[in-house]
Amino acid sequence: MLIKPPADIPSSEITDKKVYLNRRQFIRTAAGTALAAGAGVIATEKLLGAQQPAPHGRKLVTKSSPLSTKETPNTWEHITTYNNFYELEPGAGNGPSRLAKSFKPAEPWTVSVEGECAKVGKINLEDILKGETLEDRIYRHRCVEAWSMVIPWVGFPLGNFINRCQPTSKAKFVEFTTLLDPRQFPGQRLPVLDWPYVEGLRMDEAMHPLTILGVGLYGEVLPSQDGAPLRTVVPWKYGFKGIKSIVKIRFVEKQPVSTWQKTAPNEYGFYSNVNPKVDHPRWTQARERRLPSIFQNRPTELFNGYGDQVASMYTGMDLKKNF
Ligand code: MTE
Repeated sequence: MLIKPPADIPSSEITDKKVYLNRRQFIRTAAGTALAAGAGVIATEKLLGAQQPAPHGRKLVTKSSPLSTKETPNTWEHITTYNNFYELEPGAGNGPSRLAKSFKPAEPWTVSVEGECAKVGKINLEDILKGETLEDRIYRHRCVEAWSMVIPWVGFPLGNFINRCQPTSKAKFVEFTTLLDPRQFPGQRLPVLDWPYVEGLRMDEAMHPLTILGVGLYGEVLPSQDGAPLRTVVPWKYGFKGIKSIVKIRFVEKQPVSTWQKTAPNEYGFYSNVNPKVDHPRWTQARERRLPSIFQNRPTELFNGYGDQVASMYTGMDLKKNF
């Protein structure tokens, strides 16, 4: 049986040598040839270089948001050439940008709304967006592999859409699913994850005003490698909670099992709140590497710096147990 690897593939991106070697070791012992072929090892200096940034062009009408950070955003080139999108290529780096052309989101894009809600059915993205004001939300983006960026997303509160779906009192969680289409997603032809990618949020997390459905960045339509045409953005959680290219939203009573939890339950929890005190079993979370820097020397902030807004949702919870 192939043991599936966690979202940590281009080991050379981490500057700490011990971490680097551990991850190489893991890849060798656990992942096997399918992963090796898919992931490759990319030199750090190549990660943010002139790869293949997504072309500019499809502008959106947006307004600015008071919820944006004042930090300087990463460039369009960084954000569209350093990605993690296993459906395109396993591992983080420039693979998704190189293969982005293989995925052209269908127009219209249809999302299936299922489970514990009154408005079960299929809805086109165009109709999801009707009546919504798109906002520029500049958020810190902290990935579990200890790299971070600042990204000017375009989106609107997920809570607005949830209200329109009219969840029942039994809806305690929201489960999201990515498109399954191996013809467009070369990564889905590899047995590295149990496809399709699934993620979940507790209802209060999904309804939180910071949580958005993202449809763009830098005022433009979302490029394929960043999760076109619809993804979640949950800025106080590790990046893998931000599921890309969503085709299904299901309201459920029981806590969903997310793809990474299923893949490596001792390494990836359901909550995955950014926490400098809860290390990943194979590397520290105390510091992060703000791309394009090569140094993992920036202190990680609890809840990625959004604690004032979100900590109260976790009062009384043991965040080490509920990592
Ligand atoms: N969503 C899907 N469907 N497939 C993925 O492989 N990777 C996750 C998340 N969403 C992933 C996904 C991970 S691990 C991260 S860090 C973020 O997407 C990266 O988002 P970005 O490439 O836009 O920076």
